[in-house]
Amino acid sequence: MTRPPALESSAYLLAARGQPVPHTPVWFMRQAGRALPEYRAAREGISMLESCMRPDLVVEITLQPVRRYGVDAAIFYSDIVLPLRAAGFDVEIKPGVGPVVADPVRDAAGVARVRPVTPGDVQFTTDAVQQLVSELGGTPLIGFAGAPFTVASYLVEGGPSKDFARTKAMMHRDPDLWHALADRLADVAIAYLAVQVEAGASAIQLFDSWAGGLSLRDYERFVMPHTAKVFEAIGQYGVPRVHFGVNTGELLGLMSAAGADVVGVDWRVPLDEAVRRTGPKPLQGNLDPALLFAGWDAIAPEIDRILTEGTAAPGHIFNLGHGVPPDADPDVLHRIVKYVQAKSAHVPA
Ligand code: CP3
Repeated sequence: MTRPPALESSAYLLAARGQPVPHTPVWFMRQAGRALPEYRAAREGISMLESCMRPDLVVEITLQPVRRYGVDAAIFYSDIVLPLRAAGFDVEIKPGVGPVVADPVRDAAGVARVRPVTPGDVQFTTDAVQQLVSELGGTPLIGFAGAPFTVASYLVEGGPSKDFARTKAMMHRDPDLWHALADRLADVAIAYLAVQVEAGASAIQLFDSWAGGLSLRDYERFVMPHTAKVFEAIGQYGVPRVHFGVNTGELLGLMSAAGADVVGVDWRVPLDEAVRRTGPKPLQGNLDPALLFAGWDAIAPEIDRILTEGTAAPGHIFNLGHGVPPDADPDVLHRIVKYVQAKSAHVPA
């Protein structure tokens, strides 16, 4: 593990630890991707998951938004289903759709197809992380994984879903089967996160993007124990653990209690209210991605509001409330980075 010492004084890691910052750090979920012409060029003729298995492409695509936007953190270019695919599970990413599973997991034989992931399955991830950490210097690299519920939703539904009906039906009809699946997916997330941290990632983010579709009770009974297992296992590394989902206003308290050091918040709940729900810990968020299309005169006051509300938390990492849309204008994102960094800059006392 070779993490340059300069990293510890990076704005992102200071904020994630609730320490005083030179400025509010800013990065964007899905900052690498189709909004960037250089991403579209790098990906030409290569499928998404194939590109994730090529260290040269992973390094280049991860660095693209760092170069262009000057963001305070890089996020590893991969996908939440990549470790499953690397362990032989039949899943594809369909452009414009998302992860698609030809033979969805609906019974015990399906669960048995979800194999443990070993470091050897994802040697290309180790190689790419190590190279990235040396090229990034003082900019931290965030490793990530999909949380058990969100990944399970793709495996059980067979693809993206609006209501997660089959996944919820499995939980309630056959809780043992559900828990067996979620437990295996927790192990997959732990293995994939451990590989990234051991290769030098400075922080991890666990995406439970679709947890907001669950009731509080179902979250607590069917999801939280598995997510808590992931955070608990990664705790030994001492890197900040960030947790994020969309539409999770009702769940923020439990998502925080599952073991997150930093909680990501979408645009629905203002950060000063969010911190009342999570308890005092650093928050990440939460500009509505739709604002990217509203013009600068609408964006600037929203940023000001979010920076002010963010001071209610012991640390604030500026981000969107969800990922960068593919048709976003890179120049607008660049302007947001410069504005957040300048507006929040203060001379240390
Ligand atoms: O820049 C980054 O944030 C890092 C890379 C990243 C990707 N996927 C790259 C990607 C991350 C962190 C993810 C996580 C991911 N993947 C999540 C959780 C984050 C979130 O957005 O809530 C989810 C739910 C997925 C599943 C997934 N993969 C979806 C819904 C899609 C979009 C499908 C589409 O084409 O619209 C993908 C594909 C994907 N993952 C792309 C990228 C850059 C687009 C692929 C392409 O360029 O064709």
